[in-house]
Amino acid sequence: MPIGSGLQGARVLVTASSQGIGYGAAEAFLGEGARVVVNSSNAGRLEAAVKRLARLGEVHGVVADLTRPADLDRLLTETVTHLGGVDTLVYVTGSPHPGLFMEQGFEDWERAASLLVVSPAYLARRSAEAMLRGSTGGRMVFLTSVAIREPIPNLATSSVCRIAVTGLVKTLSRELGPKGIRVNGVLPGYIRTARIDEVAEDTARRRGITPDEVVRGIERDIPLGRIGSPEELARAIIFLGSDLSSYVTGAMLPVDGGLLRSVG
Ligand SMILES: NC(=O)c1ccc[n+]([C@@H]2O[C@H](COP(=O)([O-])OP(=O)(O)OC[C@H]3O[C@@H](n4cnc5c(N)ncnc54)[C@H](OP(=O)(O)O)[C@@H]3O)[C@@H](O)[C@H]2O)c1
Repeated sequence: MPIGSGLQGARVLVTASSQGIGYGAAEAFLGEGARVVVNSSNAGRLEAAVKRLARLGEVHGVVADLTRPADLDRLLTETVTHLGGVDTLVYVTGSPHPGLFMEQGFEDWERAASLLVVSPAYLARRSAEAMLRGSTGGRMVFLTSVAIREPIPNLATSSVCRIAVTGLVKTLSRELGPKGIRVNGVLPGYIRTARIDEVAEDTARRRGITPDEVVRGIERDIPLGRIGSPEELARAIIFLGSDLSSYVTGAMLPVDGGLLRSVG
């Protein structure tokens, strides 16, 4: 029996999606026949992304900075105006600056907490309200990082703040499961995007080696021997963001080529 995603006509919001992981997810949902709203904080980059994605299906762009509450409210309102509701929220966000713990100041922590904790929690609430207005429930997928299970030294704020997303996923899955909304998380390992270049360059500078050497070192530590692609990650997001995962909620799924060593 073929296993279809059932996403034809589904209404999907993918945040932080002018490039990288979010863009790859938006592309995959459009490939499944979904109607998609993409978002980023930069009008030029978002417009270029919408132009490229439009060949695949119905896509709308909403410029909004995910760290600003008024922008989050408007993002939801405009999404509902474009699509008539929301069936799936895929929450991706921007990256905090790389750096060691002892280099972080108060403002770094505030920015990271706003980006990685407050913003997803607030958008989840607003999205759940929109989903509950419909009669078909909904799905939320929060992108976080393997750093929440095994902290990465040079990504201190990320390793600390992203852990809250596990609490968010567990809390929401308990509260919203009875109302037909499933909530899951994805833990990417290393995925080939501009973010990897940024982290490799920062690490290379600190260690006095080249970014290529940093990447080769990362790949040596991955059992599958390579960095993943946004397309490979998007398949896991499609699974959790569709009824293919109809009996899965409150799960945190690593997509990391086997990088995580910890048990449980
Ligand atoms: N790549 C990896 O290996 C990896 C692994 C684990 C976790 N992650 C995390 O996954 C997320 C996405 O990573 P990526 O690799 O796709 O990074 P990326 O290629 O740098 O893309 C980041 C996206 O976020 C958007 N963005 C940044 N700040 C924003 C804001 N305040 N409001 C709205 N949109 C914003 C950017 O668009 P604009 O600049 O146009 O706003 C862009 O579309 C990041 O949080 C990253 O730390 C990445």
